Amino acid sequence: VTEIEVRLPAAERAYPIRIEAGLLDRLGESIAPLAPSRIALITDRTVAALYLPRARASLGGDPLEIVVPAGEESKSAAQLHEVLDILLGANLDRDALVVALGGGVVGDLAGFAAAVALRGLRLAIVPTTLLAQVDSSVGGKTAINHPHGKNLIGAFHQPSIVLIDPTTLRTLPPRERASGLAEVVKTGLIRRRSLVERLESEIDRLLEPDGFAGATDILVDCCRIKAEVVRHDERESGLRRILNFGHTFGHALEAATDYRHWRHGEAVALGMRAALDLSVERAGLPPDEAARGRALIERIPTPPLDRPLDPDRLRAAVARDKKAAGGRIRAVVLESLGKARDEPVEIDRIVEGALSIVG
Ligand SMILES: NC(=O)c1ccc[n+]([C@@H]2O[C@H](COP(=O)([O-])OP(=O)(O)OC[C@H]3O[C@@H](n4cnc5c(N)ncnc54)[C@H](O)[C@@H]3O)[C@@H](O)[C@H]2O)c1
Ligand SMILES: [Zn+2]
Repeated sequence: VTEIEVRLPAAERAYPIRIEAGLLDRLGESIAPLAPSRIALITDRTVAALYLPRARASLGGDPLEIVVPAGEESKSAAQLHEVLDILLGANLDRDALVVALGGGVVGDLAGFAAAVALRGLRLAIVPTTLLAQVDSSVGGKTAINHPHGKNLIGAFHQPSIVLIDPTTLRTLPPRERASGLAEVVKTGLIRRRSLVERLESEIDRLLEPDGFAGATDILVDCCRIKAEVVRHDERESGLRRILNFGHTFGHALEAATDYRHWRHGEAVALGMRAALDLSVERAGLPPDEAARGRALIERIPTPPLDRPLDPDRLRAAVARDKKAAGGRIRAVVLESLGKARDEPVEIDRIVEGALSIVG
């Protein structure tokens, strides 16, 4: 078992991330030290069908179970309200523990519910998608969506523990695997050149259903790197922004297609290609390094568009981004593979970059 300690500036809130094959069958013993008065297990229908019986058996006792529909639509105020109705209706006290079993959607929804119910219940995250195992379960961000935009209502709420069982990735659909792998590639590009090199030889295998069976250490690396970045910058004022490499372009692509065409990581994969070009132009990334990065990213499959994107919709999407101000937006650029910084960039340059990738 690998254990990573995530230390936050307020030391009492340090929490462990445990990564081990078969951990799903040992949830109970892992959370026993937290001595919860009651467990509220929140998951989605797809994950429930695959893993709820094992989670239930391993948690023991009589957990309250809340199963929401699978998909981004569950990150809504209406769904949050339903979850809160069940949590509050069960008369939980503040020693209860919310267990989020699923991908980033369940993590964000259950995490936000835990943040606000009784002004804060403890949270254990059991991520079951690659994206959640390498990215969304680390860092303490929770959120639901609003008609004005994604993740606009939320809170920072650090989990008490994160329990990662890499064997749950076997059942993941190929596109979800690709989406998560984009964040893995991103992690290497911004902070760990050796990970980039490793991915160059292994990425095709990692796209296979059992790809992570012998590569658990990649999950460990990604969690470590994100934990280290977050630790230096819990509230995203400086260093943490590098985690957004490829995301300024990616978010624009997602928003301009109503979040329906690409999975998040697929849009990030496309966005990273544009960000590499920008890096050559603005940060002195050597063109041969950019080409290497691009070749790696292109091995992640992304569905092509069937019609051209509307530049005005793209521009509107970038301008609406939380990080945009005065015709500019901060975008992350690489100085070399493994070294990132951020930089104010004209919104029009972002639009141009996004269009250059998808036409
Ligand atoms: N909080 C953060 O820091 C953070 C970071 C990145 C992304 N996010 C959020 O995460 C969400 C995306 O997360 P996601 O990509 O995990 O999507 P998701 O949670 O919707 O999961 C994708 C699909 O895979 C299914 N699934 C989950 N685990 C499975 C398994 N082991 N086998 C088979 N199917 C499984 C789910 O039911 C769902 O249909 C977005 O809402 C995004 O905003 C949050
Ligand atoms: Zn992302």
